[in-house]
Amino acid sequence: MTTTPTTTLPHWETTPDDLPGAIREVKRAIRARIEASGRTVAEVFAVVEARIAERVAEIRADVERGETVWPVIDYSDIENGTVTPEQLAKLRRRGCLVVRGHFPREQALDWDAGIVDYVERNAFFESYRGPGDDFFGSVGSKPEIYPIYWSPAQMEARQSDRMATVQSLLNAQWKHESDGFTWFDPDRDSLYPDRIRRRPPGADSNGLGTHADPGTLDLWMTQSYQQTFRHLFDGSVEEYDPWDAAHRTSGPQYPGTTMCSAFRTFQGWTALSDMAHDQGVLHTVPIPEAMAYLMLRPLLDDVADDDMCGVTTNQVFPASERWHPLLMEALSGIPDVQAGDSVWWHCDMIHSVAPVTDQQGWGNVMYIPAAPWCERNERYAGSVREAFLSGSSPSDFPEEHYERTWPDRFTVEQLNATGRRGLGLG
Ligand SMILES: [Fe+2]
Repeated sequence: MTTTPTTTLPHWETTPDDLPGAIREVKRAIRARIEASGRTVAEVFAVVEARIAERVAEIRADVERGETVWPVIDYSDIENGTVTPEQLAKLRRRGCLVVRGHFPREQALDWDAGIVDYVERNAFFESYRGPGDDFFGSVGSKPEIYPIYWSPAQMEARQSDRMATVQSLLNAQWKHESDGFTWFDPDRDSLYPDRIRRRPPGADSNGLGTHADPGTLDLWMTQSYQQTFRHLFDGSVEEYDPWDAAHRTSGPQYPGTTMCSAFRTFQGWTALSDMAHDQGVLHTVPIPEAMAYLMLRPLLDDVADDDMCGVTTNQVFPASERWHPLLMEALSGIPDVQAGDSVWWHCDMIHSVAPVTDQQGWGNVMYIPAAPWCERNERYAGSVREAFLSGSSPSDFPEEHYERTWPDRFTVEQLNATGRRGLGLG
């Protein structure tokens, strides 16, 4: 740890040994810096709270009018350049999007069937060893999350022109150049490999609680994130812009079981089945500025000095009724989607998956985010390339490596120009 009292906050570029001590120290320093602006932490937080409350009220009003909270844009409008300024404004306001007809429905259903063929041909269910972190837990049972990364279906979608077109539009909502520095290239994706979910009809699922994914204690403690959130930590909250990529794309992250080494402008998935809005689907708090609330809330007096409202390393960043009741009021689910639609949400945003009993129809998705080329993603692309060539699980995920011996996984010869560029193969 290094510190230069008047100019920088104390920071830890790797996980601190003494977490409670580091939390106390960084909270004290951030509070002092905010107070040096002439306002108290409570006053600054009240500004954030008022801004968020306006957004929450808008969202509730939309719900009462029976309008869809999630913006929806047709893929054909993105391809033809006919997305309206109003649609783009709503995308930026809500920080999330459904792209209708991103892929033809038949294409998505073919991919879904292709994945089933791929895993069955390779006897995946017979060799399945249970979740990666529970080695002997459920030998032989069928998983919902398939730790499969290199099927032809996934790679065809990742390197498709249609995917690149949507990713470029999403990336363009961010400010990617400032201070003479290009933080990322909005028109080159790094093909972040992730898994597949196939949840069968009749499934019961507890869903996933409200949480955020961009990091844990590193969000307050590394120098690059302290710069990312500089306006939150120096009392100038009015200037905080959730779409500014400055300092987000190069710094370190604290390792953890749920970490994402890549910088993602948006997280996303592509539907491989039709899904009704009440069948255990994704919800978000569709307010990108809510990050300001999440980051400042632990600095208020009612939170213990060594507590960040429950955020700690190696666990997801929790969002809760206890600490964030205002945000929870805005939790909004996706509308009905069809196979071939895609769903996207700003990387900072709180999200959850609703529980379901006796699910009607399948709930199948492939996770494909927008992870534009930048210093951090170039670094991770090195290990992705090796995982692709050897059929291994990517290094952000448990070391399961099912596909290493599967002869029909996607090959380097099948990569197109987008695929080669995304993997850094020139
Ligand atoms: Fe998540």
